[in-house]
Amino acid sequence: MLVTFEGIEAAGKSTLIEALAQDLGTRGEPVLVTREPGGTPLGDALRAIFLDPSRRVDPMAEVMLLNASRAQLVADVIAPALRTRTTVLCDRFFDASVAYQSFGRGLDVESVLEVCLVATQRIAPDLTFLIDIPVALSRERVRARGGADRLERENGQFHEQVRTGYLALAERFAKRYVVLDGTLPREALAAAAREHIEQRRNAALP
Ligand SMILES: Nc1ncnc2c1ncn2[C@@H]1O[C@H](COP(=O)(O)OP(=O)(O)O)[C@@H](O)[C@H]1O
Ligand SMILES: [Mg+2]
Repeated sequence: MLVTFEGIEAAGKSTLIEALAQDLGTRGEPVLVTREPGGTPLGDALRAIFLDPSRRVDPMAEVMLLNASRAQLVADVIAPALRTRTTVLCDRFFDASVAYQSFGRGLDVESVLEVCLVATQRIAPDLTFLIDIPVALSRERVRARGGADRLERENGQFHEQVRTGYLALAERFAKRYVVLDGTLPREALAAAAREHIEQRRNAALP
């Protein structure tokens, strides 16, 4: 089962994934944690290029860079893991391309979605958690973390558009999306997510 985690910067994606991975691991269930862009040696190299604040990257070039990383990740990591019935927890997946490059930068939604599906061999998430937080809180958490990357340096308007984009995706793909209120305490978020994964897994059993 492929579970993806989406949301604007510092929404709490990594924090939630860590809690869930620990939980599944403790119960002896096969679990694999990965992230985008990255997750493979090629992907990590592309990630460094992608997030470098000194670089100017055209929006369509962003889509292609991300999908190059994604194609490698699906081929080498995600598809093999899914074949062995491992629960894959992926920190961002192709919805991020639509939220950032379409809603944030203005590229056509359907074209970006299609490029993404080609890159993933049409593998889509079984379950997607959107951790939703206000942009002001995101800014505050990024500042506290220190050192903003290329996307974190974008203005508030950009991040509002990305947040709106994610919420639109959650409506469009309501069957696989669960929206979590990221202002809740970590434990509450982990408990809610755990329950949804459990439900989804039981529903998928033969
Ligand atoms: N539910 C939460 N409540 C308060 N702070 C949180 C919560 N989840 C995460 N944080 C904090 O917010 C910051 C960003 O979290 P992180 O998981 O790294 O976000 P992301 O991976 O989405 O960028 C970290 O300092 C983390 O400790
Ligand atoms: Mg993170």
